[in-house]
Amino acid sequence: MAILSMLTLPKPILRQKSKRVKNIDGSIRKLAGDMIETMHAASGVGLAAPQVGVPLRVIVLGMPEEEDFVLINPEIVRKVGERLVTEGCLSVPGYFGEIQRAQRVTVKGKDLSGKEIRIKAEELLAQALEHEIDHLNGVLYIDHLESNDKLHKVEPEVTLL
Ligand code: NI
Repeated sequence: MAILSMLTLPKPILRQKSKRVKNIDGSIRKLAGDMIETMHAASGVGLAAPQVGVPLRVIVLGMPEEEDFVLINPEIVRKVGERLVTEGCLSVPGYFGEIQRAQRVTVKGKDLSGKEIRIKAEELLAQALEHEIDHLNGVLYIDHLESNDKLHKVEPEVTLL
């Protein structure tokens, strides 16, 4: 595995819509492994492929105390409720903001073996899934800010997604 370089704003790839993965082959498995290593090296809990320069619909999640996992072609199929969260992004260094996210989400996608999986999530995992799937659509959390007053210079303990 290898640590990949993290792209930050204003790299145009962060604003593009990523393509669906057609075949989950060795190159996708290698990408996913490298993304997991990169996420941990950056102390993040989630990472999307366009953040490392690959415009494909692949995300990785690494919740504290839980096993890391990969989702290929993830889609949000259900969102319930709203809550105010504090959020940061590895591709927008130096800032964090307060935005609305869903209370609970249901996401479907495939794992690295091609098996369909469905995840019902709440709290940080729900937030991270919304955040990473947004990346696949060229959307950043700063797009969800109600106003610039909700954006702040970073404090070191903010969770990065
Ligand atoms: Ni991010």
